[in-house]
Amino acid sequence: MTPTPTDILRDAIEIARWAPSSHNAQPWKIVRLPDIETAGLLFPHLNLDGDGEHLLLTLDSNRRLRALPSLEHEMYLSCGMFTGLMCMALQAWGIPWRMHWIYEKTGPALRDLEMKLQCRTLALLTIAAADAADLGNPTDKDRLERLRDLAYKRKTHRGPFAARQLDEGSVTALSTSSWPQTLTGDALHIHIEHNHSAIRGASDLVSRFAKLDFNKYRVWKETYGYIRFDPRKKAEDGFYLQCLFGPMNGLRRWYLRGMLSPAVMQALWLVSVPQRIARQLGALVAESPLLLFGYVDDEHPAAPTLVQAGARLMELWLKAQSLNMALHPISVMLQHEDARRALEHHMGVNGRLVFFSRLGAAPETGCDSPRRAAADLLVTA
Ligand SMILES: Cc1cc2nc3c(=O)[nH]c(=O)nc-3n(C[C@H](O)[C@H](O)[C@H](O)COP(=O)(O)O)c2cc1C
Repeated sequence: MTPTPTDILRDAIEIARWAPSSHNAQPWKIVRLPDIETAGLLFPHLNLDGDGEHLLLTLDSNRRLRALPSLEHEMYLSCGMFTGLMCMALQAWGIPWRMHWIYEKTGPALRDLEMKLQCRTLALLTIAAADAADLGNPTDKDRLERLRDLAYKRKTHRGPFAARQLDEGSVTALSTSSWPQTLTGDALHIHIEHNHSAIRGASDLVSRFAKLDFNKYRVWKETYGYIRFDPRKKAEDGFYLQCLFGPMNGLRRWYLRGMLSPAVMQALWLVSVPQRIARQLGALVAESPLLLFGYVDDEHPAAPTLVQAGARLMELWLKAQSLNMALHPISVMLQHEDARRALEHHMGVNGRLVFFSRLGAAPETGCDSPRRAAADLLVTA
């Protein structure tokens, strides 16, 4: 049976919901506009035509991280990861789409809708009706299943990487891009660092600054709220404790739950526990064969620029997965201005760092993180 456009949209969302996001907060919401008249009212300056469906890609105000202003960048990047996967899934289905990025201040009709739905619009996505002939095309089906497989298998690996040697060709292939530029933009620069002494220097900075994750009560409280301590309890977001610290028994889980709690962490600052955790993270960085840096020229990039950068990073992360490589972002270095500037200076980055990650050979096993149901991601205006 030929799938309907709604089936296809649902399937694209099903694939996209496996996108990575900061704290696994999944801060995205798709708003389906009922008709072209509504779209025209919301975007009077755009020349929209009547064909297909109009969807708003938005940042869900109730799901965004708020403890630090810099987390806003991570929210946009995360939405970009989702958007990238969704659009590429539509493309593999043979569905043409068009993206209007929303840079300018929004008009009153859109503002009212955003207030009502508690979201911020990042883009208007128009998807055209599918040509039935395209849907049966096996090349597209292969592409679709390959994308689905990569999206499901990709995971964040926070432990040591596999000892396997990485071949140079694969590393070079990582930063080549084939996703449409209307999706990824061209603002994000990628740098992959191999040099051992540069990696060592970055690891020293992580050892020095990563304790900042814990020193502000409000910031750590927000992060702590995303840790899922009981692996048997069903969750829809956040990360399981064992994804952070590896497999463990119930006793250790119970101990860590208490030790990591925000009030205890404040006290443990006095006996340098956060400092020790930071040094452990620094040691992991030192052992990484590669580091990945994403940066933009603009010190204050606009939201859509960061969403596009997120889509570009999604492409790269899936390519890494296809080459049996893994990433582990270390965002604490970007969340605090002094840490970020020190890293930019050390790496000679001429611009603003927006993504920093360990990169290496994927270990045999990974750790699964929960996701929200696909049906919860789509609402109608
Ligand atoms: C913008 C961004 C920033 C992230 N920063 C961190 C980080 O600082 N530390 C970390 O362990 N994981 C980080 N992650 C990975 C997420 O925690 C991870 O994607 C999420 O928990 C879902 O897990 P999965 O990637 O294994 O599916 C980041 C992901 C994104 C998209």
